[in-house]
Amino acid sequence: MLKFETEHAFLQENITDYQETVNKYHEQLMNKTGLGNDFVGWVEWPNNYDKEEFERVLACAEKMRNMCDVFVVCGIGGSYLGARAVIEMVNGLYADKKPEIVFMGNTFSSTYIAQVMNYIKDKEVCVNVISKSGTTTETALAFRLLKKFMDEKYGEEAKNRIVATTDKARGTLKTMADAEGYETFVIPDDIGGRFSVITPVGLLPIAVAGIDIRALMAGTKKAYDDLADPDLNTNTAYRYAVARRILEKQGKCAEMLVSYESQMSMVAEWWKQLFGESEGKNGTGILPCSVNFSTDLHSMGQFIQDGKKVLFETLIKVEKPTLDLTFPSDEENADGMNYLAGKSLHWVNQMACQGTLEAHVDTGHVPNLEITIPDMSAETFGYMCYFFFRAIAMTTYMNEQNPFNQPGVEVYKKNMFRLLGKN
Ligand code: PA5
Repeated sequence: MLKFETEHAFLQENITDYQETVNKYHEQLMNKTGLGNDFVGWVEWPNNYDKEEFERVLACAEKMRNMCDVFVVCGIGGSYLGARAVIEMVNGLYADKKPEIVFMGNTFSSTYIAQVMNYIKDKEVCVNVISKSGTTTETALAFRLLKKFMDEKYGEEAKNRIVATTDKARGTLKTMADAEGYETFVIPDDIGGRFSVITPVGLLPIAVAGIDIRALMAGTKKAYDDLADPDLNTNTAYRYAVARRILEKQGKCAEMLVSYESQMSMVAEWWKQLFGESEGKNGTGILPCSVNFSTDLHSMGQFIQDGKKVLFETLIKVEKPTLDLTFPSDEENADGMNYLAGKSLHWVNQMACQGTLEAHVDTGHVPNLEITIPDMSAETFGYMCYFFFRAIAMTTYMNEQNPFNQPGVEVYKKNMFRLLGKN
């Protein structure tokens, strides 16, 4: 379902030379004996996810779909990026589907928050507040505003329109949800935020957006099966993990995730959190960046082609677009574009991709890793997501770091709380 190629990567070492190292960390990951082993619940999740809760997610999503015009997802980081990535990748950016999914709780921007509140005020609204800790300030702040709005608009009925996804037993949000009588879904203890898109954290909003979450989970299971053997001749995730470390040794300290599909931009945002938060520890790690081509060829193209040689690209190619158009012929040909008449727009996009790859590789000497996915379906996301999970766990272990914590994120919070006067 996913191909990984290194033909244009300028690797100066053989990936397979790392087999012993990979075997060691694979065993640690599977036996839960590696760094951060309290947070490897995602590894077996494609096999052992709670099927009863999954059915409850589907039923709740159906209920929400029938009740609202706008479904507000209130969460930040791992508690929002995955859902948004899947919804945009699968449905596209102008899907005109009901209900519309709107995101809040992911910023302190007063303008953004006020605009969302204004946008939803005359619409039928349901809310999914998502927070594992239950105390994340951006989310708690937005949810207080949303709760007040929902209580004033719907009175007693509000509790049937608010769903909380949080820790199974602890935290402010769990206490509040129980007291108010909201339906709740559980974020498993052993799955961190950035690995939680395949739990109710991601699955509920994705299902409310009308996307087939059974297919998504089937994709994760396929990837699980395909990646069971750590053999570096066949295991695509581990090949990618090793290739990154080889490129880092060759002086590449930034990885640019490249897509040619506008609806993949949020997938890149989700990937940046997954890779950045997992790998950036103790002065180590590759900086994750992203561009959307050909759009960003007109902004970042110059640097990638010609700037300091610090980065490599990881190109995601999509074989089959969700939609396509045939370019029309024009009798006048005033714009001189008739040379494309009768061609599909996807073919044009593919030629742009090929031309850019040649330019960056042959002239710019920028290493390119290539990931090919068949389409932008839910199943493909499930597969690709699990592929990235396994890759980042392996590549971070290879740097002897814990892929599953994020101690650095606390520093800004401490300062912010002091400035805000929080005790
Ligand atoms: O990956 C992570 O752990 C973080 O990005 C969290 O998901 C994010 O900070 C939100 O945390 P919470 O779900 O506790 O509100």
